[in-house]
Amino acid sequence: MTILDVDNINTYYGNSHVLHGISLEINEGEVVTLLGRNGAGKTTTMRSIVGASPPRTGSITYRGEEISGLSPDEINELGISLVPEDRRVFPTLTVHENLRLAHNLASDPRPVEEMYELFPALDPLRKNDGQNLSGGEQQMVSVARALVQAPDVLLLDEPTEGLAPVIVDDLREIVQTVVDENVTVLLTEQNVDFAFDLAERGYIMDTGQIVFDGTVEEIRDRDDLLETYLSVGTADA
Ligand SMILES: Nc1ncnc2c1ncn2[C@@H]1O[C@H](COP(=O)(O)OP(=O)(O)O)[C@@H](O)[C@H]1O
Ligand SMILES: [Mg+2]
Repeated sequence: MTILDVDNINTYYGNSHVLHGISLEINEGEVVTLLGRNGAGKTTTMRSIVGASPPRTGSITYRGEEISGLSPDEINELGISLVPEDRRVFPTLTVHENLRLAHNLASDPRPVEEMYELFPALDPLRKNDGQNLSGGEQQMVSVARALVQAPDVLLLDEPTEGLAPVIVDDLREIVQTVVDENVTVLLTEQNVDFAFDLAERGYIMDTGQIVFDGTVEEIRDRDDLLETYLSVGTADA
């Protein structure tokens, strides 16, 4: 069953036309990746879905209901949570306060304590301010803040960017746990290996358009796509 259906959306920043008729369809429980170079429009697609940059035309339906005119808070309450590219951890709030705040905004959240079980590294940091966390710790808080809301759809915008390999491994395990709980995930990445490990299907974007969609196996086999659209060298190095 389709849970999220993005149909031919056009999104602008002022007069700048950024998304040119983007369509994508995500089934309940699926993990789908949105790939593409820097500037391709991945973040704008996610911002369109969550109502932060609403599309000017086209439609976005969630469980069959039009959501493209709703506010970001209303969309969040319906069960769609975004982990933004820039993390947005509140710097002067503690880890615990960051999680409580997200918890209190959700209509049917999980207990905050469950997040410390899922992210054991955050447990000793409960009283630390956001501004005193490492990049990896901030990313954990940002993901935990989304998960405490018990979303049905989790949007992850380049979650591995700037993270040490060992943290990327932790994050992969956490996302896999969430996927096993049947949460639907849309994941943008420039780290294609991370995306290929988790996703079943993918869309490739370039200059605000979808240029390819297929299974991860199909994308993985297409050296031409990887080289043209993802700047992944395929020569054995
Ligand atoms: N706030 C903004 N104002 C104007 N243009 C923007 C803004 N944010 C992004 N853009 C432009 O929109 C295009 C798509 O950007 P983005 O969605 O961030 O791509 P990606 O996430 O794939 O790197 C780029 O050309 C970028 O320069
Ligand atoms: Mg981006």
